[in-house]
Amino acid sequence: MAESSQSHHNSSVAEHEKFMRRSLELAVHGRGKTLSNPMVGCVIVWNNTIIGEGFHSRFGAPHAEVEAIRSVQNPKLLKESRLYVTLEPCSHFGKTPPCANLIIEKEIPEAIIAMRDPNPVVTGNGIQKLQEAGVRVTVGILEPEARNLNKSFIHFHETGKPYVVLKWARTLDGIMGRAKDDHGSRQISSEVSALFVHKLRSELMGIVVGSKTLQLDNPQLTNRLWPGSDPVKFYLGKSKSDRDDVIRMTSISELFAYCQNKNITGLLIEGGSETLQSFLQSGEWNEAFEIEAPVRWENGIKAPEMKRNNSEIFQLGNDLIRHYYN
Ligand SMILES: NC(=O)c1ccc[n+]([C@@H]2O[C@H](COP(=O)([O-])OP(=O)(O)OC[C@H]3O[C@@H](n4cnc5c(N)ncnc54)[C@H](OP(=O)(O)O)[C@@H]3O)[C@@H](O)[C@H]2O)c1
Repeated sequence: MAESSQSHHNSSVAEHEKFMRRSLELAVHGRGKTLSNPMVGCVIVWNNTIIGEGFHSRFGAPHAEVEAIRSVQNPKLLKESRLYVTLEPCSHFGKTPPCANLIIEKEIPEAIIAMRDPNPVVTGNGIQKLQEAGVRVTVGILEPEARNLNKSFIHFHETGKPYVVLKWARTLDGIMGRAKDDHGSRQISSEVSALFVHKLRSELMGIVVGSKTLQLDNPQLTNRLWPGSDPVKFYLGKSKSDRDDVIRMTSISELFAYCQNKNITGLLIEGGSETLQSFLQSGEWNEAFEIEAPVRWENGIKAPEMKRNNSEIFQLGNDLIRHYYN
């Protein structure tokens, strides 16, 4: 339900949703590039026409509001315009000056905001600043969609923990790894699924494997098949490794504390079995993708057995992907 600082205004919720939907579309252009910042989109509307658009394009770049305001050709119209933005405008001096100040300075009379900033330390401050300056503010338009867009960022700021996505590939007969003395192919899933996994790697800031997987498979842990920067690489375990690009963590809590400290908002856990089980058993996970390939290996390391129903199922190449939420 939208909350508004003033009950009277001229636009219907349907109209607000139309412009907020466009703002969400714009926000998506920053996917994989804004981390650890959220994706944010913004439009400026005058007389029911979009006269400015912007989005946060990458970490350190200007915020969506700045880009949208800059794109307006006739700045005189700003005084009679509405600003739509998918996240509460910031009110603090970070890498850029506060967007709330810019909105006030440009005398934009109305702001429509999809959701509050999830960071408990700053939430509501931008809205308050706008309201105190006399800007008419509406909050909550397409909020579920806006939350869904920045799941990791929101979870990280609301709980202090990274958003955890588990992913593994298994055979039809439930195997995810070769037995130690078996030197057959180690690849289970298809090339199309590999693209999907590399996309996940570009969207989550960190990637984690167990010490045995690191030692046995020596995986690159990059998203070379998808644009965006590589995740920060971690392995769990007491065993040492000669890989100096992979950070060792001896427990999930040490890993989470490190993430909190370094603003790593999301993690992709890629196995092996023992590592995945430890996240499943501790309940410290948010989503899981189980990739089932149409092959049988008969013996080897067993994949986790999910004890809940998947929320969706889809096909990639020859593989079947089951998607679970905790
Ligand atoms: N199909 C797939 O998607 C997939 C993906 C990855 C790997 N694999 C396969 O999986 C197999 C390896 O699986 P695995 O179960 O034997 O080993 P693993 O999960 O890769 O590694 C297990 C080790 O990780 C450490 N560890 C795991 N969870 C931990 C936790 N919560 N806290 C601290 N340390 C933790 C421990 O290391 P220390 O003993 O050093 O303390 C443990 O012995 C390989 O065959 C690999 O090819 C398959």
